Amino acid sequence: MDRVQTTKTILWLIVGLAAAVGITRFLFGLGVTTNLTDATPWGIWIGFDVLSGVALAAGGFVLTALFYVMKREEFHGFVKPAVLTAFLGYVAVVIGLLFDLGLPWNIWHMIIFWNPHSPLFEVGWCVMLYSTVLLLEFSPVPLEEQSRYAKIRNILMKFRLPLVFLGIMLSTLHQSSLGSLFLIMPYTLHPLWYSAILPIIFFISAVVLGFSMVMFESLISHWLYRKESNHERIGKLAGYASWVLGVYLIVRLAEIAIAGEFGLIFNGTWESWLFISEILISTIIPLILFASPRLRVQSKWLWIGSIMVVLGMVYNRINVGGLTMLRTTGDGYFPSWMEISISLGVVSAAVLVFMFFIERFRVWDHRPEDHQKDPDALPEFDRASGVWLGTPAIAARTKYSLAFVIAFAIGFAAIPGKEIHSEGIDIIPVSPSRGGDTLFVDGNLNGYGVAFDHKKHETNAKEKQDCATCHHMNLPADKNSGCWQCHESMFAPADIFKHDWHNSPMGANIACVGCHPAGQIRQAETAKKCTDCHKDLTAAGTTIVFDTYMAPSYADAMHRACIGCHREKAAADPEKAKLADCGSCHYQAPPAGMEELFRNAAVPPALKPVILPEEKTQ
Ligand code: HEC
Ligand code: HEC
Ligand code: HEC
Ligand code: HEC
Ligand code: HEC
Ligand code: HEC
Repeated sequence: MDRVQTTKTILWLIVGLAAAVGITRFLFGLGVTTNLTDATPWGIWIGFDVLSGVALAAGGFVLTALFYVMKREEFHGFVKPAVLTAFLGYVAVVIGLLFDLGLPWNIWHMIIFWNPHSPLFEVGWCVMLYSTVLLLEFSPVPLEEQSRYAKIRNILMKFRLPLVFLGIMLSTLHQSSLGSLFLIMPYTLHPLWYSAILPIIFFISAVVLGFSMVMFESLISHWLYRKESNHERIGKLAGYASWVLGVYLIVRLAEIAIAGEFGLIFNGTWESWLFISEILISTIIPLILFASPRLRVQSKWLWIGSIMVVLGMVYNRINVGGLTMLRTTGDGYFPSWMEISISLGVVSAAVLVFMFFIERFRVWDHRPEDHQKDPDALPEFDRASGVWLGTPAIAARTKYSLAFVIAFAIGFAAIPGKEIHSEGIDIIPVSPSRGGDTLFVDGNLNGYGVAFDHKKHETNAKEKQDCATCHHMNLPADKNSGCWQCHESMFAPADIFKHDWHNSPMGANIACVGCHPAGQIRQAETAKKCTDCHKDLTAAGTTIVFDTYMAPSYADAMHRACIGCHREKAAADPEKAKLADCGSCHYQAPPAGMEELFRNAAVPPALKPVILPEEKTQ
């Protein structure tokens, strides 16, 4: 087999495996296929597929800018492959995102339900528009194959320049706002990666990556199809890249120095090593290689340099996208093999499509030779069995489908079943039959919580009332809001009103007189009632009276919502006598310092006494 066939067979194997995992993910959900948790909701699919995917596709806008705007005619040969890579990159990002979204069928929501405050909203729109622009930029290539499309092609060619400008603009916008996403977490991200100028850093690194990706893609595709590649021009790109790399290095180090965090680089923590390795791989070594006019004309160094930038910047995106947050979330996330296979599968599928376009259309000035179509080629026989596999083209396809089917089958066999991977659920020692309907209620994320079979309790409740037995209050425009959203703290009551938030422009933006009538003393008695504005704050049919906006502590809320009914059931049915014991809910051994609470506790001593519903109404 030649290089192309071997590569394609491997790619089909990966795609086959990913297809099996993909189906499982959509049938049984994220809990079954990923190691994501509430503390680490963004894993490799965001860090690699989305953040890195978008950055890797930056070659499209960098090269079109170089060719159309700066008129570097010598890079003509690089433009079409770069635009194609960018287009496929974005399609891959969107497909990768579909796997990651909890409710993927709602992906169109951002088109209609606008949230202009969110950087993610901007990213979403830009990605959508830019993919369209890339499609229009690239489509003249396949359209030139048939003369009946000549008219459409001519129109597209006429709008080429505006499209290019639009593309550059959109790219600039969203490459940087992917960085803005992380501005929201100054304390979660490690200080060596967090920066107020993250958007700028993301943009500069995207430009570097754009250059390197074009170099890498050109080197590897020419190697694959055994084509003479043009090292002189690739070297020129490396020269440009070295300038941008230099700027990137200066900006990053200067930012860290100004923030007074230079010491963190050398303090020996694992993050400091992470940072040193990242900056060496992604920036310093490639900078030396690319800046040297002697080294950058040698194909060996071009390979090494471009691979280092590509891997190094992907490494950077993964670091920003999650790895450096582990310190604060304290969650030990490592992607499951299924997550990794989806990521690789999406990339492999994109590479296969890329190869398809290279072979069928004039992405390069000359299509690569296709020896499978060679009429003199000998038919192929399987070496082991001696079976005739057909003409070379058919034989190749047979191999690919075999690779796909085998990997698909292995994938299905290897998927560990419908068990949820989330840590909390794994450690339930009691009954394994508690499947995906069990919520691990752990309000303060201290790993100590209650496995709560939500589904079963819905039916329990339906006999009497409905969801409102427990979900007694909801946030505006929401239904069945999580209890933690108001009962914010485990042991202290929380103010759900947030007076100043209602008044602030970032919040509800209501003037003082909106609630305090003019000319009167501003105090509780004269203020507008909550229910004047929030008709739907309390859920219809609830028995919990709403007369103060101080929500009891989370533990109190849980105990009062749950224990009353458990006691009733325990009293009514001797078989369920244990239902009111602490241990029927708290099946885990209590954490250190809390054991005393549970020892013979009739009433949780540290908590308020449990009030049964009937006692309260009296
Ligand atoms: C009907 C179920 C139920 C029963 C019975 C129950 N609890 Fe709880 N308890 C909960 C839930 C749910 C939470 C919230 C758990 C969380 O978010 O971590 C909780 C939280 C707590 C917490 C705080 C846990 C933390 O993570 O900090 C303590 C302490 C506690 N309960 C003590 C007790 C004691 C003592 C008893 C027995 C007298 C008891 N509970 C009985 C359901 C129950
Ligand atoms: C026995 C009490 C109870 C009943 C009845 C109940 N729930 Fe829940 N529900 C909970 C608890 C407890 C949680 C998880 C704790 C938390 O959110 O802090 C929860 C969580 C949820 C969540 C996730 C909220 C989030 O954003 O975290 C949804 C959605 C939900 N319930 C919907 C429903 C619906 C729909 C019904 C009626 C069919 C219902 N629940 C009935 C107690 C209940
Ligand atoms: C929109 C905010 C909000 C949400 C969501 C919410 N609560 Fe509450 N809750 C409150 C407030 C405010 C109070 C105090 C009401 C009062 O005493 O006037 C309260 C009171 C309670 C009480 C009554 C305590 C007592 O003293 O009798 C229980 C029980 C309770 N909540 C359980 C829950 C559970 C369980 C959930 C989730 C299924 C939940 N709450 C969701 C705001 C909320
Ligand atoms: C969304 C309605 C709302 C808006 C807007 C609002 N208030 Fe209030 N305000 C209240 C309510 C309700 C209370 C009673 C709070 C309590 O019981 O703690 C209150 C209480 C007060 C109090 C008495 C505080 C106390 O401790 O007793 C003052 C003073 C006050 N508001 C001033 C203002 C001023 C000044 C503004 C504008 C900058 C403003 N409020 C905007 C609803 C509002
Ligand atoms: C003058 C009208 C008005 C009054 C009075 C008012 N609110 Fe609001 N409140 C708003 C508006 C507007 C919003 C934002 C609505 C939205 O996000 O859809 C809001 C939002 C909220 C939210 C959601 C906050 C979030 O994080 O999304 C809560 C909870 C809330 N109000 C509670 C209260 C409580 C409790 C009172 C009574 C003490 C109260 N509000 C009185 C107008 C009011
Ligand atoms: C309306 C009554 C009712 C309410 C409210 C209720 N439960 Fe239950 N719960 C039951 C019943 C009945 C069972 C036994 C179900 C069975 O085994 O079929 C049960 C079982 C359980 C179990 C399994 C106990 C065991 O030993 O197997 C847990 C854990 C639990 N509930 C937690 C909670 C929590 C947490 C809440 C509050 C958010 C809650 N329950 C609210 C009726 C209730």
